[in-house]
Amino acid sequence: MVYPIVKYGDPVLERTGDVVTEFDTPELHQFIADMFESMYAARGVGLAAPQIGVSRRIAVIDCSTGEDPAQKIVLINPEIIRTEGKQKGEEGCLSIPGFREEVTRAHRVTVRAQNVKGETFEMTGEDLLARAFLHETDHLMGRLYISHVSALKRDLIRRKVRKLAKNGEWV
Ligand code: NI
Repeated sequence: MVYPIVKYGDPVLERTGDVVTEFDTPELHQFIADMFESMYAARGVGLAAPQIGVSRRIAVIDCSTGEDPAQKIVLINPEIIRTEGKQKGEEGCLSIPGFREEVTRAHRVTVRAQNVKGETFEMTGEDLLARAFLHETDHLMGRLYISHVSALKRDLIRRKVRKLAKNGEWV
């Protein structure tokens, strides 16, 4: 099923997700399938469980946006174990629609995570994939990409969102 995406302002986005301890259950398989479905419906390249209101450390990524099944990645309880270099680029988030900001991130990133069976693996990505590893892992720790922009820009976004919410345009 397609879940609605939770928007910035909902406390679930700023909470640390619960560690996943049970693997390979029908419930987990279904949840991950639903996460991919929800991400594709929203046209994103990454989605973290808190973004559909579930405070668990699970994220899905597909930089091909559904074009190439080989690029589907599931990260459970991920941690960033290595970063190298720098990249500058615009970043957005499904939970903060309508906004994009330049965010400097590492260019090459290695993540360690568990798969749906609970097996630990490591994966290294560059460019967009490196950015997605960082962005999604941040989500699971209750951090949004706007924590990486200047306080001035973050305040501006916060004010605009508050105004949209007031007008009932942020649901
Ligand atoms: Ni996001």
